[in-house]
Order: sequence, then C-alpha cells, then structure tokens
Amino acid sequence: MDSPADALARLYDVDLVEDPGDLDLYLALAARADGPVLELAAGTGRLAVPLAVAGHSVTAVDLDPAMLARLRTRAVTAAAVARNSAVERRIDVVEADLLDVRLDAAGQFGFAFIALNSLFLLATREAQRQAFRTLAAHLAPGGLAAVDVWLPDADDLARFDGRMILEYVRDDPETGRQVTKVAAAQHDAATGIVNLTSIFEEGEPGAQPIRWIRRDVLRLVSADELHDFATQAGLEVETVAGDYDLGPLGSGGDRAIVVAQKAG
Ligand SMILES: C[S@@+](CC[C@H](N)C(=O)[O-])C[C@H]1O[C@@H](n2cnc3c(N)ncnc32)[C@H](O)[C@@H]1O
Repeated sequence: MDSPADALARLYDVDLVEDPGDLDLYLALAARADGPVLELAAGTGRLAVPLAVAGHSVTAVDLDPAMLARLRTRAVTAAAVARNSAVERRIDVVEADLLDVRLDAAGQFGFAFIALNSLFLLATREAQRQAFRTLAAHLAPGGLAAVDVWLPDADDLARFDGRMILEYVRDDPETGRQVTKVAAAQHDAATGIVNLTSIFEEGEPGAQPIRWIRRDVLRLVSADELHDFATQAGLEVETVAGDYDLGPLGSGGDRAIVVAQKAG
C-alpha cells in the first residue's frame, strides 16, 4: 500500500485529471523569455515536464519528496514517449523550501513562475511576499515572472463555512480505483485564511474503502496584493490578467495572473 505521502501525491494528480488549461500560457512565456525556466512549487511536474519536452531547460523546486518522485517518473515517461532522453536531462529537480532556496543559477533564469494557486500554500502575507522575492532573485535582467491564483467570489466564500461538499467521484487512471473526494473549508474573513480538509476514499463499490485525509492552510490573495508583491520584490508589472490568454481582469473575474519583468 502507498505511504500517506505517496497516496496524497498520486491523488493530487487525480485532482488534476481535468486539465486547468494553463500549459499554453507557460509555454508562451517560456518561449518569450531568454534562458532557463524555474518553477517553484512544481509538484508532480504537470507543467515542468511539458516545458522540458518543448525544449526548455527547467529547474523544478518543491519541498515534498513524494511529489518530486512522481515528477521524475513523469519525466522518464515523457522522454520515452518523445523518444528523446534529452528531456530527462533538461529537468533539474530540487527538493527545497522555496522561501529560502538560492540556487547556484540564481540570476540566470529567463522565466520563473508559481502556478495554479500554489502561492496560497504559503499561508502568511510575509511568506507570499518572500515567494516573489525568490522569483525575482533567480531571474536574469529582463527575465519574466508569473504567478497565478484563483479569486473566489462571495458565493464561493459562503460555501467555506465548514460544510462537507462532494468534490468528485472519478477513476484514478493509474490504479483503476474509483476515488471519491469530499472537502470542508472554513474561511476567516479577517485574515483571508482558509482551513481546508480534503478526504479521499478509494476502492470498489461495496468494498471497505481506503481513506486519506489532507489538511491545508491557505491564504487567499487579491489581484491588488499580487501586483504589490511583485513591485515590492523589485519587478515591473506588465499585466495582472484575468485568464490564461492574458485577457483583462474584469469585474467578476475568477483568476488573477500577474506577469512581471525584472529590470534589464
Ligand atoms: C498545488 S501543488 C502545485 C503543483 C504544480 N505547480 C501544478 O500546477 O501542477 C502545490 C505544491 O507546492 C508545494 N509547496 C508548498 N509549499 C512549498 C514551499 N514552501 N516550498 C516548496 N514547495 C512548496 C507542495 O509540496 C506542492 O507540491
């Protein structure tokens, strides 16, 4: 049986069976940038590996060894599918805390990013600000940074009152087992902190399920805060966009994506 860390890393990929649709944005920004790519909180390599397949040198930083083990496996599989062993060599996997990591290649990256709400996992304002400093410290002059977060609306937040909500019932393509996920979130409006408990049950209908529990403390951020974090880190904000095509963030938008540049 999986260890809890291995199971939760595998279930992270079940969470993302439905593609968020953000890869083309990162491919476009990496193509615009001159130099290697850095992903902080890279997880299981959902984005880092396709960026390497596209020909970029990628450094993937994460503090969870179980997530990084899956990233390495994903890289091996992608290299085999592409019949190109260079794909594996183009990915440098670093187990480290993004808050204090300083890579030897700091100052040389053309593009550095934090995708899909990972910023929330740094659950204080100061830690989130520090994440932007880490991005900035690793960029070469003229390099690009991007950070993407969800903007929950009032209805979303109203559901974060501790009630248990069925998130999905779907098959894990890896194990073939059916996974049921329920989650309960509690939002503190004063701090923007969300305490999230996710419960995964997997098994055959009628059989005793295996249950895994994940607890996350998240700090929500506004689009204005993203802008401020970037400028406080010494970056020049190009846009705070509202979607993965970098369209404008209008009222009612549910994502904010900041793209910023280090002065050349
Ligand atoms: C939501 S997953 C993101 C995965 C990936 N970026 C993607 O979009 O598929 C968040 C990741 O952030 C990592 N993480 C959280 N805090 C971190 C920290 N302080 N330093 C490095 N990684 C961190 C977790 O281990 C987890 O793998």
